[in-house]
Amino acid sequence: MIFTNLIKTNLRTKSLGKDIEYYQRLDSTNDESWDLIKDGSASHGMIVITDNQIKGKGRNNNNWHMSPSKGLAMSIILQKNLKVSEAKLIPLAAGIAAAQAIENRGGSPTLKWPNDIFINEKKIGGILCESKISSGSIKEMVVGIGINVNENSRDFPEEIVKGATSLYIETGYSHQRELICAIYTTFFERLLDQLPSTTSMWSNYCDNIGKLISFNFNNKKRKGIFKGINEDGRARLLIDEKIKLFDSIVLD
Ligand code: BTN
Repeated sequence: MIFTNLIKTNLRTKSLGKDIEYYQRLDSTNDESWDLIKDGSASHGMIVITDNQIKGKGRNNNNWHMSPSKGLAMSIILQKNLKVSEAKLIPLAAGIAAAQAIENRGGSPTLKWPNDIFINEKKIGGILCESKISSGSIKEMVVGIGINVNENSRDFPEEIVKGATSLYIETGYSHQRELICAIYTTFFERLLDQLPSTTSMWSNYCDNIGKLISFNFNNKKRKGIFKGINEDGRARLLIDEKIKLFDSIVLD
């Protein structure tokens, strides 16, 4: 059970989280957000959250596992005109906000490009930003956040247990998911107001500069040495001795 009044009590925002849609069980908070946008019942800043996400989506068509009643799975709907240049920085802001929220609760997170959140080399969270572009601007974006909060290692499926961790495992304490949701949303709103500074903030959390990374881009497997991000949010990768640039967001 998630108590939306507890989220509201802890929010310190101007516009995000004024509306909260809570579902006990849901396929995916991102998919539900798009359904709400389509049927006209979404609003800017709306939080869509569930206690049991059963078909969570990760990047590159991967699944995202959430342990019912233990993990945090939520999406924030941004429903306003965004320039493409701003939209490209939002996934970075979403990752920083997750790192800040985890730090606020006693964890010591790092970020790996594009926006995986790690503690002690194990994944504790991920971000899936989805948006649709029309005539050069973006009118809606869905920012999906998954954080492992109160899981112990037995809660993770066998295929991910070695590489996964939770805030409970890392700090030794249980945490209130409503509070983390509120802190995340508050930090995220602040970052949206200062998007140009996200690249340097992101770099301060990043720990894979100079390391070999592999990732999917436009359905193609790519591999290269990660050299950091540019001011426009694009990643610099050394591939075949040449620097190539990659956006942190894939626009439909
Ligand atoms: C990744 O690391 O690949 C991204 C994981 C994103 C998971 C979150 S959980 C809430 C939201 N709804 C989804 O279906 N996915 C995102």
